[in-house]
Amino acid sequence: MQTFKTAKSILELSEKLRQEGQTIGFVPTMGALHEGHISLIKKAREANDIVVCSVFVNPSQFNESADFENYPRTLESDIKQLKSADCDFVFAPPTDEVFPEKDTAEYELGEVARELEGAHRPGHFNGVASVVKRLLELVNPHRAYFGLKDYQQYAVIKALVKRYKMDVDIVGCEIVRERSGLAMSSRNIRLSNGGRDTALALYRSLREAQSALRAGKTVAQAESAGRVILKMVPVDLEYFEIRNRSDLSQPAEKTDNLIALVAARVEGIRLIDNLFLNME
Ligand code: PAF
Repeated sequence: MQTFKTAKSILELSEKLRQEGQTIGFVPTMGALHEGHISLIKKAREANDIVVCSVFVNPSQFNESADFENYPRTLESDIKQLKSADCDFVFAPPTDEVFPEKDTAEYELGEVARELEGAHRPGHFNGVASVVKRLLELVNPHRAYFGLKDYQQYAVIKALVKRYKMDVDIVGCEIVRERSGLAMSSRNIRLSNGGRDTALALYRSLREAQSALRAGKTVAQAESAGRVILKMVPVDLEYFEIRNRSDLSQPAEKTDNLIALVAARVEGIRLIDNLFLNME
């Protein structure tokens, strides 16, 4: 497995691979890799000749400087894991290779980016759009893989590639959970053991909402049922919402196409999770 650090080198690599007729699967990450990321590498491995993974902690998507500074950076262990997962190339650039100049563009991402994370983390999706567009231009993959834990991010990236007519398939991959049900996240390593127990309430709240809907409750009642679970533990809830899965709008009625989404701080660490609400 080879590691690239410059924009020029990764661009040349992708051009060469394309000329050879090889298909490229791309997994963009911010490092601190865990089984969730490795499952994306495996998905990419199954469907493409070549797998490229980027490890880049993108400053422009952090709306709090402390969050950026505290974000775990574990490149050596990331590289080991990627080798074992049979990844072909890693792109681990310094910031000025990705953004030689500050990107001041305002990306048109539509309604899907406005609420939930969009409302609670001003500028976040603009920063995500900026880095994902740039990385996609450099790696020029046939397919790019994103975890569905960041469901709204996945929807925003789909909107981005549609709006900017980028020729790449965006593949959403299932959430990977620990045995306890806790969704895997690079941020989990900052939780104490007690914090990890508390954090389980996020998944519990999502399942509670699902049970409520299945038991015949309305969407509003199911949301309340989810929120009640989160009132019983020491978390700072940012939102718990049930939305239409297709565009994250508020549901006018109960359908089989809903998703519950939650964001909360546990021990000051911001966690998100979601669950597709199937009726059976
Ligand atoms: O999901 C992430 O890890 C990041 O938001 C991404 C897509 C790699 C962009 O920095």
